[in-house]
Amino acid sequence: MSAAPQILDHPTTLPMTLPRLAEKRRLGEPIVMVTAYDYPSAQVAEAAGVDMVLVGDSGAMTVLGYPSTVPVSVDEMLMLTAAVRRGLRSPLLVADLPFGSYEASDELAIATAQRFVKEGGADAVKLEGGGAMAARARAIVSAGIPVMAHVGLTPQTSTALGGYKAQGRTSDAALKVAREAIELQEAGCFSIVWEAIPAAVAEELMARMEIPVIGIGAGPRTDGQVLVFHDLLGIYDGHAPRFAKRYAHLKGEMVEAVSHYADEVRQGLFPAAEHTYSIDPGELAEFRERLQAT
Ligand code: KIV
Repeated sequence: MSAAPQILDHPTTLPMTLPRLAEKRRLGEPIVMVTAYDYPSAQVAEAAGVDMVLVGDSGAMTVLGYPSTVPVSVDEMLMLTAAVRRGLRSPLLVADLPFGSYEASDELAIATAQRFVKEGGADAVKLEGGGAMAARARAIVSAGIPVMAHVGLTPQTSTALGGYKAQGRTSDAALKVAREAIELQEAGCFSIVWEAIPAAVAEELMARMEIPVIGIGAGPRTDGQVLVFHDLLGIYDGHAPRFAKRYAHLKGEMVEAVSHYADEVRQGLFPAAEHTYSIDPGELAEFRERLQAT
């Protein structure tokens, strides 16, 4: 393996804290969040100077190859979170609590959240949904762990929502999103993600929010935005939602580079002299003699 590449730090390396995040919202400074799932993606997020990094359970699909976020386990998410922690210094690190690891009781929610802080090194955890989940959020916050909420399209329960589709598109549905968001804010969540809701609903709702709102498919009026690392870079070529803007097409470049390498090996062009180690001719001669004698 070659030496780790030198990644230049972004000039703003002050660690992100909950008060700084609230201050950014107050000042109207857009908040940038991106997902990461391992050491190199964390280093990229760090070098790009983002404010928050989410170890999303989207990693179930983007890096672990599951068909949805549902099957990923706590242990798998902990391994991803710990790897991201090792690559991250300044952004706030939020870890997703996976499906089935917090819903059943406040005790379970607290115990799982504590594992993400103690074993994964997360600064905060994220959970999906309102209703009983607001009680879980309140319990985790009371245990001293900051919680980010997530309403609108909640992939862990997408079957109950009728599939991966935008939410809040009728007045009833929009009111449900509004009630859940306010309830989660009152439960003490420090921030909330709104996924796949109409921009006009988000805009109306912003007047009721006092905590930083991070949108993904919620239009331009939220306090910040989040994108999935692999969507943003064009590494993952599964289903791409409408809101997943691609800023690069790395999958093509990756396949091209690996194919180039394969061609060079097959043609005897790699490794070249500059990729090989030398030995002193005297040492080589002596080695030959001693090898003969063995
Ligand atoms: O898992 C994830 O990546 C997420 C973001 C889409 C907010 O929850």
